[in-house]
Amino acid sequence: MSTSYTKDEIAALQEKAKRHLWLHFTRMSSYANGDMQVIVRGEGQYVYDQNGKRYLDGLAGLFVSQIGHGRTEVAEAGARQAAELAYFPLWSYAHPQAIELADRLAAMAPGDLNRVFFTSSGSEAVESAWKLAKQYFKAIGQPGRYKVLSRSIAYHGTSLGALAITGLPGIKEPFEPLPAGGVRVPNTNFYRAPAFVADDETAFGVWAADEIERTIEQEGPESVAAVFLEPVQNSGGCFPPPPGYFQRVREICDRHGVLLVSDEVICAFGRLGYYFGSDRYGYQPDIITFAKGITSGYAPLGGMMVTDKLMEPFSEGHTSFLHGVTFAGHPVSCAVAMANLDVFEKEDLLGNVRANENAFRATLEKLGDLPIVGDVRGAGYFYGIELVKDKATRATFDDGESERLLRGFLSHALFDAGLICRADDRGDPVIQLSPPLTCTQEHFDEMEQILRSVLTEAWTKI
Ligand SMILES: Cc1ncc(COP(=O)(O)O)c(C=O)c1O
Repeated sequence: MSTSYTKDEIAALQEKAKRHLWLHFTRMSSYANGDMQVIVRGEGQYVYDQNGKRYLDGLAGLFVSQIGHGRTEVAEAGARQAAELAYFPLWSYAHPQAIELADRLAAMAPGDLNRVFFTSSGSEAVESAWKLAKQYFKAIGQPGRYKVLSRSIAYHGTSLGALAITGLPGIKEPFEPLPAGGVRVPNTNFYRAPAFVADDETAFGVWAADEIERTIEQEGPESVAAVFLEPVQNSGGCFPPPPGYFQRVREICDRHGVLLVSDEVICAFGRLGYYFGSDRYGYQPDIITFAKGITSGYAPLGGMMVTDKLMEPFSEGHTSFLHGVTFAGHPVSCAVAMANLDVFEKEDLLGNVRANENAFRATLEKLGDLPIVGDVRGAGYFYGIELVKDKATRATFDDGESERLLRGFLSHALFDAGLICRADDRGDPVIQLSPPLTCTQEHFDEMEQILRSVLTEAWTKI
């Protein structure tokens, strides 16, 4: 079917979608009296629906489309690979695309993260990192280490292991009991810092890092395998690390023999102006998990990179990592990732983010004159705007107000106004922006203008 649809074709699509398609994290009942939003085509920073209406992709799909849409050179790299070798597993075999990509990633990653284990998604990457930590500690004679610390409200994926690491109670509860060992520590939301450190971000960071140490000691260091942290926490609305936070966490992990896993499923591949978020903040993880931006979504791929030390028990004797997935390191996805990284280099996308991030921030900060905007925070091309009922007291919305505001109004109004972004209330209500890394001032202005008009209207509805 072409990308221009007749009225009948649109109606037929809606009917089939409503009858057979199950959208993720979506109230399907909402389509009883309304249509699904159907996106049919993308070009650059924009996507188009079946009526030809254009939307600025302010979320890069789902924190994915770093290079933007419609890049034929990347699509063609995938097609060439499918014709050459569409599939072969990484179970006992290798293929050139996985070899070349692993080599390229090892050269890009900080320190001696020299070994790449591919997956097909971010949840699988997180799951793999936890499994590796557990098997590694058994292999080196510390079998009691299985617990994982992660931050409150942080999202680390939905498969059962990854969900045990995820810190969002609402999406865990239906699936409990979850695998044992997930333990929460505070996040780095400075806007909501406890009163005794609310005026000093560095002191707040020391407190938040020390809470990790206190928790390790409370749980018993001999039972803790790893701490999973994003460079900038997504869920809750982009919490950057306070100054010195990661350096302190690194010291704490070293002191207690605990692995530091940098979950960079969102933050890697330019989102923060660096290939890896840990590079931006100057810390050395034991494992980096990645997905999303590595292919800019032209094919699915994820993985983890691990240090030489973690690989050691698996490099000798009869030990193998007892884990694998069929489509991990798929040849087409690896070829696409290589072509995607070529675009990064040719167009200096990291340079674009670094050159423009202050302008992006300054443009969004203009929204601070609106009564509903409490905080604008983030880094690189990754921002959260926290919405409040009262700026002076920072009072947030109750559940009913939040439901009416976000689901009842904002999500639809922003989409109707031509901006794809995320209105999220899994923590306090926020709007999140994470556009393609090719965006420039004209796109920042477009986002600001749409947000200004929709948020102004939202305030009249509270
Ligand atoms: C930090 C982080 N980890 C893991 C995941 C899970 O990735 P996936 O949806 O590819 O399974 C996500 C997804 O958004 C994420 O943001």
